Amino acid sequence: MNEKNLEVCILAAGYGTRMRSSIPKVMQSLAGRPLLGHLFNSVEKLNPEKIHVVVGPEIDSVRQSFPNQNINWVTQAERLGTGHAVMQALPHLGKDVRLLILLGDAPLISTNTMQDLISSDAPLTVLTSNVDDPQGYGRIIRDHGGSISAIVEERDATQQQILIKEINTGVMAINSRSLSEWLPKLNRTNAQGELLLTDIVAIANEQAIEVNACATEDKLEVRGVNTFVQLGDLERSLQQRYARELQEAGVHLVDPQRFDQRGELVCGSDVYIDVNNIFEGQVTLGDGVRVGANCHIIDSVIEDGTIIKDYSHLQGCHVGRNSQLGPYARLRPGTFLGNEVTIGNFVEVKNTVIGKNTKASHLTYLGDAKIGQSVNIGAGTITCNYDGLKKYQTRIDDNVFVGSNTAFVAPIVIGEGSTIGAGSTITKDVDANVLGLSRAKQRTIADWTRPEDQD
Ligand code: UD1
Ligand code: CA
Repeated sequence: MNEKNLEVCILAAGYGTRMRSSIPKVMQSLAGRPLLGHLFNSVEKLNPEKIHVVVGPEIDSVRQSFPNQNINWVTQAERLGTGHAVMQALPHLGKDVRLLILLGDAPLISTNTMQDLISSDAPLTVLTSNVDDPQGYGRIIRDHGGSISAIVEERDATQQQILIKEINTGVMAINSRSLSEWLPKLNRTNAQGELLLTDIVAIANEQAIEVNACATEDKLEVRGVNTFVQLGDLERSLQQRYARELQEAGVHLVDPQRFDQRGELVCGSDVYIDVNNIFEGQVTLGDGVRVGANCHIIDSVIEDGTIIKDYSHLQGCHVGRNSQLGPYARLRPGTFLGNEVTIGNFVEVKNTVIGKNTKASHLTYLGDAKIGQSVNIGAGTITCNYDGLKKYQTRIDDNVFVGSNTAFVAPIVIGEGSTIGAGSTITKDVDANVLGLSRAKQRTIADWTRPEDQD
């Protein structure tokens, strides 16, 4: 067990040239979160003394994206390789700490694996893996006794070395004392002309210090992202893992290949999820919830027994039990639905509370409203909540019946049990238990002739 204090250094200054993108590579998103965000999540659980992140000078956007993280941002002005990147962090490190070095573009190293590496007693422990396709990775060279003598980058590898299937994941744990001794010995005599961090393995060997290896069997942990092809492949693999975890927990995913989780999804028992859904941020689905095809659900809680039909879009909302949404429902932030509510097709709800057993089944906009229980909202009802300057509230009390194609000009209150005649534009409050009506009286004109073409 290594008793030294722990610090972490994440290398994130590379150009990401192979990505051909103006977005810094470590900010590209995997399962809805930047690559760097995945690493922060896993690293935080280790409770390190300090986290250093090496970034390039023009990618200030990286720092700004993580305002709440307690990080020592280190700038690497000239990008001269991974060894050079660590050199920039060296003056900031404790004199005698255990340092975990991670690559910003290898985002899925698990906390457990990190823990294994840092707790090893050897001055230098590298994380390796045996893979079917080692292309693009540094190869692990072992001597006759089986200890690691060097890491050779693919571009520097001989014909024979290239066949080696044990690769360097890029992750290592090292004592800072050894690091400060070995880093100055790096040189740029390699195909890339860079200062390669991986060369410290050979340097340790020259000093007869044995380098320890920790191997991981996990196929995802090792995957580095250099191109959009690799990012896409990793995304799918990670999604398959999420899907598998849900299936094992008893969720009925109709097709685990067509499932996307970009955040945390918590499911009760007997949840059914049809194809092509995206779950983003924090989503909770209660017991027996059914989600139809092609829905996008973001930061929402859906209580037991609710059915969400195809093509619905939900964000920042809370839906009660045994409700029915969609198809084509749109619930925007601040929507709170009670139990047994129906929100039908082409109904948009925003910043609105709706009571039990209320129905808005077709073609409606409900914004900044407070709607009671057992209200029937007719097709085409609109809350006119905005006068071009400010937003106003509409209050519709219990048991109101709203006829089709009604416009409520807010602020307005519709009393309990009242009825609103279809086609009304309601601009004044309506008392309880009355009929509110504002449309012009229908006239009938006999013998009406339609206008005729004069030409
Ligand atoms: C690196 C390893 C390789 C390993 C692979 C695993 C080295 C020399 N090679 O290769 O052995 O198999 O990762 O994925 O370490 N970076 C900087 N400053 C620089 C250069 C890079 O901060 O000057 C950062 C990059 O942002 C990136 C990481 O270091 O996050 C790795 O750099 P990259 O160029 O992608 O290395 P690989 O060729 O993938
Ligand atoms: Ca890489």
